[in-house]
Amino acid sequence: MDTVWWLLSFGALLCLPGVPGLDNGLARTPVMGWLHWERFMCETDCVRNPNNCISEQLFMQMADMMVSNGWLKAGYKYLCIDDCWLATARDEKHRLQADPIRFPGGIKKLADYVHFHGLLLGIYQDLGIKTCAGYPGSQGFYELDAQTFADWGVDLLKFDGCYYENLEQLEEGYRNMSIALNRTGRNIVYSCEWPLYARRFTKVNYTQVAEYCNSWRNFDDIQDSWTSIKMVLDFTAALQEQLVPAAGPGAWNDPDMLVIGNFGLSWDQEVTQMALWSIMAAPLLMSNDLRDINPRSTALLQNQEVIAINQDPLGAQGYRVFKGDNFDLWEKPLTGGSLAVSVTNRQEIGGARQFLLSRGILWKGLACKNKCYITQLLPRRYEYGYFNETFSLLLPVNPSGTVLLRVD
Ligand code: GLA
Repeated sequence: MDTVWWLLSFGALLCLPGVPGLDNGLARTPVMGWLHWERFMCETDCVRNPNNCISEQLFMQMADMMVSNGWLKAGYKYLCIDDCWLATARDEKHRLQADPIRFPGGIKKLADYVHFHGLLLGIYQDLGIKTCAGYPGSQGFYELDAQTFADWGVDLLKFDGCYYENLEQLEEGYRNMSIALNRTGRNIVYSCEWPLYARRFTKVNYTQVAEYCNSWRNFDDIQDSWTSIKMVLDFTAALQEQLVPAAGPGAWNDPDMLVIGNFGLSWDQEVTQMALWSIMAAPLLMSNDLRDINPRSTALLQNQEVIAINQDPLGAQGYRVFKGDNFDLWEKPLTGGSLAVSVTNRQEIGGARQFLLSRGILWKGLACKNKCYITQLLPRRYEYGYFNETFSLLLPVNPSGTVLLRVD
């Protein structure tokens, strides 16, 4: 019980986001879009695998899908290139260049295409001498590369941290690229992996990270599996005292891509990822194949009421309130004293189990008193209706699934 009370008082302090984020006016709510890495990785063989290689064609097709299949309308605006887009060398003026075979029109042409369709373009680089996959890195060329991205019309940079020499160089690299991007005068969202690499040496200074980055990865690369989702959630909960106060408009913890619509998650596990990424105020960057995705996963990813929890303007990151009896309970304060609540059944045997949700365990700042309206958003919509201040509710939750509610 002690743990619960400790967490409750911790939760009570979290009614407002903590430090102000990077002051570039961008990502006031978590970024939404698509990022190629988890699904397409570093496939560069367009002869043997023409439909799945990292190429201009892949991104143009995804752009088409984002517009014609409701993704853009649902809020997914950033189409992001990850590693492996580069040529193996810089040009004669030391500028970066895309692989000429796979991106025959160069990145500028792709940016124009993407912008014409109302989307924004993200790109990837690394602060070290090489990218993680071994392409030319930005070290020694931060100003030039930032300017090149701005000239091309890039709107987001994912800046990786492979091939650095020491902690000092890593931290300086992240700071300097932030400054270089700002100097270009173009609006470029800055997505970092600073804490993921820095925590190998030191306790991360999240106040500083949030001053320089719009979002930052804390944990290893996500994979298309339930094991991976669980690891991210448990890691985030274990570090929530540090992570949650750092998040707010302009600055977000990034638990990595949404893998919904791929091969590894069951329906209930997809619901869990969508619910918890919304509770965590995570960037919603899908990595899946929008040319081939089933209607149920599409509806889940495009669920406007769930997205509204992620995009809530208060920008408070949710946190785990309770863990016990193989249930995890998380909550996220929302604008106007409302609350999002999720209950995950972590028992992976048997059928649905009942969780008794009582008012007493939830956020003290909840605005509703004797008239609390409870709506279940996932796994399917259901209006529980009005409850008084001392409500309790019995919720059936499937194994590895999640029930997501909002209380207004
Ligand atoms: C690192 C990052 C991944 C991806 C790869 C690309 O592992 O964490 O997200 O960008 O590099 O090589």
